[in-house]
Amino acid sequence: MLELVAGESLPKKRNGRPGTAARVLEFGKESLTRSPGLIELAPSILSADFAHLADQVRAATEGGGTVIHVDIMDGHFVPNITIGPPVVKSLRRATDLPLDCHLMIENPDQYIPDFTEAGADWISVHQEACRHLNRSLHLVRSHGAQAGVVINPATPVETLSEVLDIVDYVLVMSVNPGFGGQKFISGALHKMRKLAEIRAARGYSYRIEVDGGVGLDTVADVVRAGAEIMVAGNAVFGKGDPKVNAAALLEAARSASLQRV
Ligand code: DX5
Ligand code: ZN
Repeated sequence: MLELVAGESLPKKRNGRPGTAARVLEFGKESLTRSPGLIELAPSILSADFAHLADQVRAATEGGGTVIHVDIMDGHFVPNITIGPPVVKSLRRATDLPLDCHLMIENPDQYIPDFTEAGADWISVHQEACRHLNRSLHLVRSHGAQAGVVINPATPVETLSEVLDIVDYVLVMSVNPGFGGQKFISGALHKMRKLAEIRAARGYSYRIEVDGGVGLDTVADVVRAGAEIMVAGNAVFGKGDPKVNAAALLEAARSASLQRV
């Protein structure tokens, strides 16, 4: 099991990304292979103080966050509105970590070029929002970002059957998207298990990300179910020190990963 040490930073990104989930990133003398099995924490800035975004991202990074999760909402696909490419562009200047843009918007194809231009490294689109899901995922790749597909709590894993060979990661929603601080929906656990089984059976290399209600009370369950990238908003930024919160969450995730069989 590969792990990151809290507080380590990843290198400046991101030219010439290969097209699969396995990547080696050099940083200092260390290297990190972003492949299935690597446990990472992706602090979600949705619950951060937007007036001090750079400071909040820095604190979460010092606590061990290695991916910054950015929730993009349009007020149509989900009942909330957040941010667009200009804020991603500002974040790009504030951190070297990968920016993981979770598009909760209708017609994502229209905006994918703007987000990659702004500096998004990873872009995920919802199965439920894409009329031509294969095309949307290829569009993400063609703009040089890693492509992720997301499923809502009511959407079965089986709906992804025909795209699992072309995605870098699968994001399993464990809340209905739109807001931070909601209660974890445990039905998401069997989907992570299923995704891990399918990956092993078919030899795919996507990583498994989970988003919604991940905290100290749920993180062990999601890791044991197969999640590798833990998105956490409220648990990191809700109260207290994001650095301390992130470190505690990552530690709990690592401990649980050692209990995997
Ligand atoms: C919800 C967003 C999440 C959100 C998770 O629609 O996609 O990324 O920030 O927040 P918590 O971790 O508070 O459930
Ligand atoms: Zn999200």
